[in-house]
Amino acid sequence: MSDDELNGQIALVTGSGAGNGEAIAKQLSQMGVKVVVNDVDEDKARSTAEDIEDAGGEALVTVGDATKQSDVKQVAERVKEEFGQVDILVNNVGLFEAIKFTDMELEDWNKYMALNLDSMYMYTYEFLPGMIERGCGRIINISSDAGKSGYSELVAYSAAKHGVVGFTRGLAKEVAGNGINVNAVCPGYIKTDMHWAFLDQWAEAAGKSRDQIEEEAIGGIPLKEFGKPEYVAAVVGFLASPATEWMTGQSINISGGLETH
Ligand SMILES: NC(=O)c1ccc[n+]([C@@H]2O[C@H](COP(=O)([O-])OP(=O)(O)OC[C@H]3O[C@@H](n4cnc5c(N)ncnc54)[C@H](O)[C@@H]3O)[C@@H](O)[C@H]2O)c1
Repeated sequence: MSDDELNGQIALVTGSGAGNGEAIAKQLSQMGVKVVVNDVDEDKARSTAEDIEDAGGEALVTVGDATKQSDVKQVAERVKEEFGQVDILVNNVGLFEAIKFTDMELEDWNKYMALNLDSMYMYTYEFLPGMIERGCGRIINISSDAGKSGYSELVAYSAAKHGVVGFTRGLAKEVAGNGINVNAVCPGYIKTDMHWAFLDQWAEAAGKSRDQIEEEAIGGIPLKEFGKPEYVAAVVGFLASPATEWMTGQSINISGGLETH
């Protein structure tokens, strides 16, 4: 992907104060995009935006909880005031934690659905009409290898991330005549704060050491290492680029070969 390929376009990346979202925001900035950095944690959002600006890019910080409709609407209003539109929406925010199904109360279930699915619905609802009006746009949803296969202790997460894939497939067909492409990315184990926290929870649930769990997890990956957020960001950059003009409704794995369908 060449620099400045998407010069002047505007992207919003949810949960871009850290991890995959941060890497995605930086990747898009390198491609010439003005990035709306969005996070519930203002310090993290500012830190990503400062890095982008230090590298010569343009970023707007928006703070809000992606599971609260009032916050989402406020963020959307601010973005429309500042930039007028969003050309590339990356629904990145999500949550996974190791939890046994029998320990999962309804409020836990709702928490996973809210962060992985409601946020995606609400941000898409805010920005899709503008894309339809302009006859162009890209929506990129971050699913997971758990969006293609089910995982023990990750039942709600697997259900939600399969939902992200289903949403992507359905919406892609609904807006195919409007110049809008909708695709998803399905990362495997990626070294972010949530990943390390998850390995700790998994070790505790399995009564094993963290090292043992790490060894087992890496052992199951054909390419034998955990991935970096930059790998996910590169796929998002590709999906945002003109190279994927004829590609919609797809869910692309980036998992060191862990997921192959
Ligand atoms: N890390 C992995 O191994 C992995 C694998 C597959 C999929 N994913 C997906 O990638 C996405 C990002 O995960 P990550 O690992 O980068 O997480 P992370 O914890 O490293 O970063 C998440 C960011 O989202 C922000 N955030 C949390 N709750 C929020 C809310 N309610 N509103 C707005 N922002 C909020 C956090 O402050 C943080 O900056 C998620 O959808 C996750 O399911 C991650």
